[in-house]
Order: sequence, then structure tokens, then C-alpha cells
Amino acid sequence: MIKFKKAILLIGSPKGKDSFSASLGSYLLSKVEEYDVSIEKVYLHSEINTEAKRIQFLDKIEETDIIILAAPLYVDTLPAKVIRTLSLIAENRKNINSDHSDLETDKSFAVIVNCGFPEAEQNKTAFKVYEQFAKEAGFKYLGGISIGMGGVVSGRSLLEMGGMSSDLIKGLERAADDIVRSHRFSDSVIEKTSKPMISPKWIYTLVGNFSWRYQAFQNRVYRKMNDKPYRREKFND
Ligand SMILES: Cc1cc2nc3c(=O)[nH]c(=O)nc-3n(C[C@H](O)[C@H](O)[C@H](O)COP(=O)(O)O)c2cc1C
Repeated sequence: MIKFKKAILLIGSPKGKDSFSASLGSYLLSKVEEYDVSIEKVYLHSEINTEAKRIQFLDKIEETDIIILAAPLYVDTLPAKVIRTLSLIAENRKNINSDHSDLETDKSFAVIVNCGFPEAEQNKTAFKVYEQFAKEAGFKYLGGISIGMGGVVSGRSLLEMGGMSSDLIKGLERAADDIVRSHRFSDSVIEKTSKPMISPKWIYTLVGNFSWRYQAFQNRVYRKMNDKPYRREKFND
């Protein structure tokens, strides 16, 4: 039986609407909505800037049954704003339930992480952090969807990506079903969403390298690409 009423999508990328996190999360949220769940989307980078906004945001979380977070991988872990948000949520929930053992687990938490490297396994450390957060905040952890090759998307919606995103789309549709039933993500969700969007992998790396060089050229720093301005000089005295 589907008992949930409200789902919130937290987008943890500073790129906001133009991020891959927004494309992934928005698609998943639209599928969750098809189960008559009311939905809301929040961009974390503007949501917790002031004390008033933070209070409003934390109230929103308390009124929500399903929390979905979509964020990029930054330096093998979470972006700073996401860490800050999760700390605020966990702290607030501990304050509401001063005895931590009483924290209700009627709220579910699911996460989508995408990274720039080709391999989805790069995200595994971040998932450990997210699972620990769910435990500390008293949320039921439904699991993490792990996606590599984030560089191919740049703000496009998943439906605009053609065949490249077809497995991902199928996986997210199944994930919506698991989420509304409060089930841990099934093996088929993990299997479909972690498939590389481009195969073989070296094509992604080749295009990625070309794109970095082109951007450096456009920004007139092509010849500076190997500079190491923070390298410590060796002094022979
Ligand atoms: C500061 C910073 C750190 C990053 N660190 C990693 C990393 O450790 N591993 C990785 O695979 N990609 C890393 N990336 C690449 C992003 O995860 C990747 O571009 C992702 O697709 C961005 O998603 P978004 O569009 O949702 O922001 C990093 C990007 C930035 C800006």
C-alpha cells in the first residue's frame, strides 16, 4: 500500500537548474508525482542562506514523508552546502526528539550522486556518508543511485539525451516505485542506473580531455595548463 503524501527534492549542486543533479532529481521526482504524491523542489544553495530561510526549510523537512537528495560528488565526498544542510537537519531532528532513540523512522531518504569520472563506483564513499546521515537523522535509508560520466549532460533534461539515457530513465522509473513503497532500491534499479552512458569508456575520456583543452583555449590559459602556482619551491642554501 502506498502511504506517502509529500516528497521533497533537494538539489545539492551549485549549478542549480543547469546541473546534472537537477536533471536526474527532477525526472525522478516527476515519476514519484505520478503516484499522487505532492512534490516540492528546493535548490540548497539559496535555501539555507539566512536564519529565517533555515527555519522555514527545517519545518518543510519535518512536514515531508520522502526526502530525495540529488548532488554531485566533490573531492570523493559531498559538496560543502550539502554537508551543512545535512548537519542542520540531523541537529534539528535530535533537538526535536531530545532522546535520540525516539527518532521516528517514518520518513524515507534516498539519494542520487553523479560524478565526473567515468566509473560510478567513485561515489561509494559519499554513499557511506549519506547512509550514516540517515541513521543519525532517524530516516529510513532507501539507498543510493550512483552515476558516472556526469560531464556528458550539462543541464539537458534526460529525455533530450536520446538513447544515451534510456537505461537511466528505466532505472529511475523503477526507483520511483521503490520510493513510494518505502522499499530499499531493488537490484534492477542499481543495475540500470549504474550502466555507463557511453561505451567504451575511452570515448568519454577522449571527449572530456578535448573539452577541457577547448575551454582552456577559449579562456586564454591553454599554455598555462601545466602551471603549478602553489608548488613549494626548493631552496638550496
Ligand atoms: C570542486 C569539484 C570537485 C569534484 N570532485 C570530483 C571527484 O572527486 N570525483 C569525480 O568523479 N568528479 C568530481 N567532480 C566532477 C563533478 O562531480 C561532475 O562534474 C558532476 O557531473 C557535476 O554534477 P552537477 O552538474 O550536478 O553539479 C568535481 C567537480 C568539482 C567542481
